Amino acid sequence: PPQLFGPERRNALGIDLTDEPTIRALSATLSTPRHYRAAPTVTPAATSPRRGRVVHNPAIGEDHIGEVIDATPADILAALDRAATSPIWAGRTPDERATPLERAADLLEGADYELLGLIVREAGKSFPNAIAELREAVDFLRFYAAQIRATFDNATHTPLGTIVCISPWNFPLAIFIGQIAAALAAGNNVIAKPAEETPLIAARAVELLHEAGIPPDALQFLPGDGTVGAALVEDPRVDGVMFTGSSAVAKLISRQLFGRIGRNGQPVPLVAETGGQNAMIVDSSALPEQAVADIIASAFDSAGQRCSALRVLLVQEECADRLLTMLCGAMRELRVGNPALLETDIGPVISAEAQARIDDHIDRMRRAGRKIWHTELSPDCVRGHFIAPTLIEIGRVADIGGEVFGPVLHVRRFARSELDGVVDAVNATGYGLTFGVHSRVRSTIERVCSRINAGNLYVNRNMIGAVVGSQPFGGNGLSGTGPKAGGPLTLRRLLSACPAYSPL
Ligand code: NAD
Ligand code: ALA
Repeated sequence: PPQLFGPERRNALGIDLTDEPTIRALSATLSTPRHYRAAPTVTPAATSPRRGRVVHNPAIGEDHIGEVIDATPADILAALDRAATSPIWAGRTPDERATPLERAADLLEGADYELLGLIVREAGKSFPNAIAELREAVDFLRFYAAQIRATFDNATHTPLGTIVCISPWNFPLAIFIGQIAAALAAGNNVIAKPAEETPLIAARAVELLHEAGIPPDALQFLPGDGTVGAALVEDPRVDGVMFTGSSAVAKLISRQLFGRIGRNGQPVPLVAETGGQNAMIVDSSALPEQAVADIIASAFDSAGQRCSALRVLLVQEECADRLLTMLCGAMRELRVGNPALLETDIGPVISAEAQARIDDHIDRMRRAGRKIWHTELSPDCVRGHFIAPTLIEIGRVADIGGEVFGPVLHVRRFARSELDGVVDAVNATGYGLTFGVHSRVRSTIERVCSRINAGNLYVNRNMIGAVVGSQPFGGNGLSGTGPKAGGPLTLRRLLSACPAYSPL
């Protein structure tokens, strides 16, 4: 049987950015960019009389990548009807479902240069981030396919029915595909709504999934903003919702679903993966060079637009000045700019609204008298939505307010006697996604890890980039409902019946 967790299991390799021919081939693809069009699968773009909404490159405002036709209320109803009346997919054997998922993984890998270019242009990701994203998408497809091959039996595992998948822009391929792959593997029909900022990469992924043999009835695509998501969730024909995005929207969906019973006679489940107020403790025993490298990756990689990103650095007073001096030096070395250039470390934030929101937060902190330091942006950055990597010293973790989704790191110094207190302050935010510890004292690591409420803990390393099958990813409290993505428990939550003896 396929190996899910053993030494035989393999994650996708991605491409090697140190290899000259690879770089040349990638550059050739980028120099002839395609113009993309996306539309609801119930009314394909070619047959739609509607005008599309233009999708911009967040790094270069004048770069129009393509157009998207957003779903109308009629499209939503048509998609729900079609999902509710198409039983073909659930009736397939686990093998018959696994094969097209695996074929889709191969097709994604085969289209790697095109997809990488599109992720860079539409989501503003650097090439290393785009590669990691493509690998994760491929891993999700193979992981859930392997899981059903190894553990499923259609006679006893019953899918929920129609599952609505709602995803965010910050992992426009990996999370979009991860939700779909899990829901399809379990035998459900899926209606996928991507984030309004990144519909083109999602539409291209759906084309490849269909080409791989996933029936169009089993996977439908409805681009649009939050109103499309809300209308889908509201419909009584929906038997389950997979949502990744902000905690605020997860609460709205949870309220909408409250008391609802699906066609299978069970409460309609919500699988939600949401935001965090993620912290890292660095004590005076930590190796400063390693801590600085891991802080840079955790806080500023992807312009801080990862749910897992470090937001609050808790640094022991005795080593704070030295560590912060080293950190500022490392931040000055970061290249912020157009991610289509290979030397870029940090791209733009996703939109003008996101930029304004982050700028407002920094202004509020300045007015509150906080000490603020940031790097300088190059003149080219005026073409897109850029924020300079920023440090803000705070007195209390609670001063930050909610999650600030960008390259902004808050710093709180603590005295040794306050160790438990600062961990409790992080717990008191109510979130519980990622948490990091840098220390060379085992008892400190154990003390902190046993006290913190977080889904993913990282010790003496960075705290981003969980790997499918190795590090199932998901949060506690306001950060999510579980089960963790890319782990063994997800499929069970997407079923209405599962035998007690199932290895799932
Ligand atoms: P968001 O909540 O604004 O939007 C997410 C999705 O929900 C989008 O597709 C959006 O159109 C849709 N939506 C908005 N309002 C809706 C409503 N009322 N009903 C149904 N759907 C609605 O989040 P975002 O800005 O796209 O993404 C960033 C957020 O996602 C951050 O908070 C980040 O921490 C979180 N996130 C969490 C994880 C995780 O695994 N825990 C991963 C990535 C992102
Ligand atoms: N899975 C993503 C990470 O770990 C969100 O960074």
